[in-house]
Amino acid sequence: MDFSGNHILSIDQFDRSDIEKLFSVADKLEPFASKEKITRVLEGAILGNMFFEPSTRTRISFGASFNLLGGNVREITEVGSSSLAKGESLADTAQVLSGYSDIIVLRHPENGSVQKFAEASRVPVINAGDGSNEHPSQALLDLYTIQKELSQNKKNLDNLRIALVGDLKYGRAVHSLCKILSKYSNVKMDLVSPEELQLPEDLLNQLTDARVSVNQTENLEEGISEVDIIYVTRVQEERFNNKEDANKYRGLLSLNQSIYTANCEPNTVIMHPLPRDSRSDANELDRDLYANPNLAIFRQADNGVVIRMAMFALVLGVEGKIEKTAKPVNWKVGLSS
Ligand code: CP
Repeated sequence: MDFSGNHILSIDQFDRSDIEKLFSVADKLEPFASKEKITRVLEGAILGNMFFEPSTRTRISFGASFNLLGGNVREITEVGSSSLAKGESLADTAQVLSGYSDIIVLRHPENGSVQKFAEASRVPVINAGDGSNEHPSQALLDLYTIQKELSQNKKNLDNLRIALVGDLKYGRAVHSLCKILSKYSNVKMDLVSPEELQLPEDLLNQLTDARVSVNQTENLEEGISEVDIIYVTRVQEERFNNKEDANKYRGLLSLNQSIYTANCEPNTVIMHPLPRDSRSDANELDRDLYANPNLAIFRQADNGVVIRMAMFALVLGVEGKIEKTAKPVNWKVGLSS
């Protein structure tokens, strides 16, 4: 895959060497993400950060990543504050915004919308989530996190055992994660969901074709018993026709410390793309897991910055210029103890 000057729309574009290349750039960017060093390598560049659905992590971390590389960010945060609300087409929006930006990040509620937008754009477009279809930057940061967490236990991505738990039908993070994991050897996957929220057929077929060993179950204890990673997801209530339908599934698959202790191997890592539903009737990941050192959800969210910096660096072709432009920081990072 040639990153430079190209859109990133789907995990289908990546092979293992592309992923390794991105991760190696991300590793080199760690000191810049943690503010040990500064770069202005994207000085003068403008990111159009276009979010037509709610977001905390993806929007802010894409914006922060661009700023950390020295670029400027312009944003739309909802359909209602854009001219889409006046009937403007996505294609016209793409034509216009690509005249104001050097690269565009787009989140939109319709499956396939980011692809449609990219076809009309004059600058590279990165998919930040299109409906229930895909969320490629999330899968890349998830895989980066899995690799880092496994390396602590001297394991790697080949031979991975993972349980995907929750709404596997509508969860775009899960869909992109399945695609990326299918590129590795001897992967074993437990798919834990209510029957009505199982992984879509086309993705199941993709896993089978890639020789991923799949076990589908509705039983949380069975699914999490012999895995390296538990990846929990929220019921995607915004994708249901009505809220009452979604409410049927809330709280069915909640993980807490006693379930973990009774069923999991000692170093099983707990992940979640977030946001997790912390309302008492859902409580996907109980508060009592806070003390569990294997709860990796905030390390996972932090990794979003370095992965998104690496995506920008590669797409804008500056990955080789960052170290040469590095400067020391002039302020102290973090709270004083
Ligand atoms: N994981 C994720 O996409 O979170 P946001 O919806 O907050 O961006």
